[in-house]
Amino acid sequence: MNDERRIIAADDVPSDGTVLFTVRAGTETSEAILTRLGNGTVVAFENSCPHWTDVRLDKGSGAYVRNGELVCQKHGATFQRDSGYCDFGPCEGAVLSTFDVTVADGEVYLTDDEFSFEHLGESGDHDLSTGSRIDFTGS
Ligand code: FES
Repeated sequence: MNDERRIIAADDVPSDGTVLFTVRAGTETSEAILTRLGNGTVVAFENSCPHWTDVRLDKGSGAYVRNGELVCQKHGATFQRDSGYCDFGPCEGAVLSTFDVTVADGEVYLTDDEFSFEHLGESGDHDLSTGSRIDFTGS
């Protein structure tokens, strides 16, 4: 495996939360989240709720997991962690976009040919000054 594609040790990926990382495709960066399933498999999803795509599931300290499902804290949509399928909430039936990742020798690698691994953590492309889509100007 290519070291440039190593994301994190598999043991450091939680099963009751997520780890945030940033990927790049050309000049564009996007955020992704890793979570570990009960069988040890690690999966990666885009860090964006299909209901309001500017809402991040993981704001930097791990997405909320309840009853084994990822939860969007904005309006409570729940997503199956193995497939990303939304089984409850305003975007029910939608599916989180995935990134290809592989575990080898206890390490998680990004194996998605469309993206390169940038770094762990936030992309820095979003505005951290507001926690809402509606700012004080009303726009
Ligand atoms: S923004 Fe995620 S459920 Fe509405």
